[in-house]
Amino acid sequence: MEYYEIIGGLPLGGSVKLQGSKNGLLPVLAASVLAGDECRIENVPRISDLDVSVKILRDLGCKAEIIGNTALVDSSGADKCTISDELMREMRSSVVYLGALLARFGEAEISLPGGCKLGPRPIDLHLSALKKLGAEVKLESGRISCRAKRLRGAEINFETVSVGATENAMIAASAAEGITVITNAAREPEIPALQSFLNAIGGDVSGAGTNTIKIRGVRRFHGAEHRVLPDRIVGLTILSAAAACGGSVTLHGCVPEDMEPALKTLHEMGCRLELGGDMVKISDGGKLNACRPIKTAAFPGFPTDAQPILMAASLKAKGTSVFVENIFEHRFAQIPEFRRMGAEIICSCNTAAVMGAEKLSGASLCSPDLRGGAALVTAALSAEGVSRVYGLEHIDRGYECMEEVYSSLGADIRRRKEE
Ligand code: EPZ
Repeated sequence: MEYYEIIGGLPLGGSVKLQGSKNGLLPVLAASVLAGDECRIENVPRISDLDVSVKILRDLGCKAEIIGNTALVDSSGADKCTISDELMREMRSSVVYLGALLARFGEAEISLPGGCKLGPRPIDLHLSALKKLGAEVKLESGRISCRAKRLRGAEINFETVSVGATENAMIAASAAEGITVITNAAREPEIPALQSFLNAIGGDVSGAGTNTIKIRGVRRFHGAEHRVLPDRIVGLTILSAAAACGGSVTLHGCVPEDMEPALKTLHEMGCRLELGGDMVKISDGGKLNACRPIKTAAFPGFPTDAQPILMAASLKAKGTSVFVENIFEHRFAQIPEFRRMGAEIICSCNTAAVMGAEKLSGASLCSPDLRGGAALVTAALSAEGVSRVYGLEHIDRGYECMEEVYSSLGADIRRRKEE
């Protein structure tokens, strides 16, 4: 079993280029099934969710090669519209292939993705959107099958903002007959990025980034080139680690406005932030003050993915920091691990109050999920003494060589294998 061995207490310094976005990459790879041609996708992060996506694409009959940080996907040979239970279990976000397979083949079959560590993770909004577009949806022994002779444009209003359901609807509607209008659409930066890919392969999508997206269906698609947007959550992870450890770190290749309001929170906690073009420089961290209550919300609100990460930075901040998690039911699983380090945190329902501790001590820690694991690494980097962070399979899903990034910034972090 692999783990990170971290000797904490060192300040971070230097500059690092931000990786491409996991959540920007996955829907684009799914949508490439629509192209029926070769797509060249640049700036892909080398993460395990990419490896699973390649397995899915090849299983569907596509050619998929990864060379460095470029993915070459040719879906002209795609001849299958089902994703196996095993592959679905490896990556629950494969649900986003439903819309693409339905649009390409008129049918699609996947397994119910099931819950995950963050909570039940329903997909009712995905299915109701596809039904609105004319799909017949059947649930049988854990498998979902969708059929539609021809998808037809529709008005789709999401009663809850959902990133994945918005993406599925955009992809399926791109091949539907007529006009589709999606209201209460997700506005995360990954949505305009998906719009630009869909338009690059011949689609006609507009309005992404606002809560109303209009799609005029087309019959033919083609290959295209696309560059994955920077990963705003990985960016905030690195900046929060610099805030917690002290020192001065410059992040290049990022989109500062995509990281608001979490940047405001870091500033509020006492960090100095210099923003410019595609860079953010953070300094004067180390001795932090508690931030104003953080309430997670859909974009442009405070991102739920950054909640565990900013909580890690607040563990030694002077005063009490309050976190209210409004998106997922179980997104405080990192808290018991923080407490093993001496953190003082009171939890009730979806609210956690972090009383700044004088010091954190290194401990043996177990990553509960992707962002929770990243948060444990931040806490270990800022603690005194040695920590072991297990569960790297979670962290590897979304972070490209995290240990190399932090080592390049002066951290003492090694990837080790338990005999
Ligand atoms: C995406 O998940 C991201 N994943 C998540 O990032 C992110 O936390 C989340 O959006 C919110 O920003 C990817 O993009 C691959 P949602 P998604 O549908 O699409 C409820 C990470 O760490 N809901 O926006 O699954 C749902 O339960 C991951 O990178 C329904 O009720 O999230 C949640 O409460 C974690 N019915 C809320 O909506 C549905 O059909 C928002 O979920 C779908 C969702």
